[in-house]
Amino acid sequence: MRFMTAEPFRIKMVEPLKMTTKEQRQQCLKEAGYNAFRLRAEDVYIDCLTDSGTSAMSNKQWSALLLGDESYAGCKSFYKLEKSVQDIFGMPYVQPTHQGRAADYIMTQIYCKPGMYAIGNLHFDTFRGNAEMLGTFPVDQVIDEGLDSASGYHPFKGNLDLNKMQKLIDEKGAEKICVVIITVTCNGNGGQPVSMKNIREVSALAKKYNIPVVIDSARLAENAYFIQQREEGYQNKSIKEITNEMFSYCETATMSSKKDGLVNIGGLFVTRNKDVFAQANQMAIVHEGFITYGGMAGRDLEALAVGLQEGCDEHYLKYRTEQVHYLGEKLKEKGIPIVEPTGGHGVYVDGRRFFPNIPQSEFPSQRLVCALYEEAGVRAVELGACAFGKKDPKTGADIWPELELMRICISRRVYTDRHMDVIANTLGYIYENRDKYTGMKLVYEGPITSLRHFTAGFEML
Ligand code: F0G
Repeated sequence: MRFMTAEPFRIKMVEPLKMTTKEQRQQCLKEAGYNAFRLRAEDVYIDCLTDSGTSAMSNKQWSALLLGDESYAGCKSFYKLEKSVQDIFGMPYVQPTHQGRAADYIMTQIYCKPGMYAIGNLHFDTFRGNAEMLGTFPVDQVIDEGLDSASGYHPFKGNLDLNKMQKLIDEKGAEKICVVIITVTCNGNGGQPVSMKNIREVSALAKKYNIPVVIDSARLAENAYFIQQREEGYQNKSIKEITNEMFSYCETATMSSKKDGLVNIGGLFVTRNKDVFAQANQMAIVHEGFITYGGMAGRDLEALAVGLQEGCDEHYLKYRTEQVHYLGEKLKEKGIPIVEPTGGHGVYVDGRRFFPNIPQSEFPSQRLVCALYEEAGVRAVELGACAFGKKDPKTGADIWPELELMRICISRRVYTDRHMDVIANTLGYIYENRDKYTGMKLVYEGPITSLRHFTAGFEML
């Protein structure tokens, strides 16, 4: 029963937040070109832009910082991290990186080739960017239910569609597929989990054609918790037993430790393949730092060694996923269209169904981001027409994405359920007044369309 347990921690230090007026926020929005990425964080009351690098560290993590061994090579802190990672991943070779995208870069350089295809459930931006720069084609093959926010309950909407995968292999030839990347949980469609059965079957199919499997494990513990809660046969397994089995089906894992690692910076490249590890070491030396620190300070390695273990604690994971679920239920009570079931790290609101009068070409989810900030100082992020819109390479015409969402990302151990109430009440108010809102016009975008949401500028219509 949820009402019999709450946060499995108490708050020992607080960060006061600046309170602003609606007029001030309107001014801030204007100055930011109506782009939440361009707001100053101090002008934000509840920051739900991302769950990345925003976790509150525990007293054990803070004290571990002081043990940081800042030696260039072979520091003590590395060996603590290595042990903690081996315990959770069940793989022997650990290369730290400064954050997830650096591990993506190393992984792309090792596994991807120009003109070849990289299959994924839904590839994350930073892998996609790395792949595209190399001339590899990233292909998203999540199950259809995962692309339809109105498709109702499915326990594992992050699953990769085996039929789509087989079809691409048949069409292009297995030698043209360089890697399969399973992102757990699947960030692109709502932090939706991938089942163990799916990971096992994808891995078996890839193995049949000698295609290596990589797991993007930024949210490995949340995925494992959903497996424990939802998948037959895993109820009595511990989170670490589940993570160990998950990674037994891949050759390599990348991780942005800024999520389930419960730290503010860091990444990992973990593998069972000695040759791949040797290549990763070379690349780390050139781009990140010596192999035992990989762009991280010794103190950061210490905090991560502890944070990974805390991230796998079942009481923490119960609280974590229930807080996200709580917000989702509050929104549903108000009739607000969200992606169901709620995933691991946030609630995703369907912008098109929220504002049926605003066409996708007028950025309904972006409009909702602005409304939410304007009314309550809550910062969410658009994952829709701006972030995923493309241009037809021949005609330059806009191609709008299937998913048109606003992501409300919940930082780990940072906000209380009363903050969730503020978000829900504000969205409820906006929803009641949804007819009064009009769309937006994109007036500035940078040269690379897939990165335009970070710097775009808008005007209200
Ligand atoms: N992989 C996934 C699945 C991610 O969600 C992220 C980052 C990365 C890789 C890159 O890691 O930021 O440490 O370099 N996601 C953040 C987000 C930025 O807001 O979803 P990084």
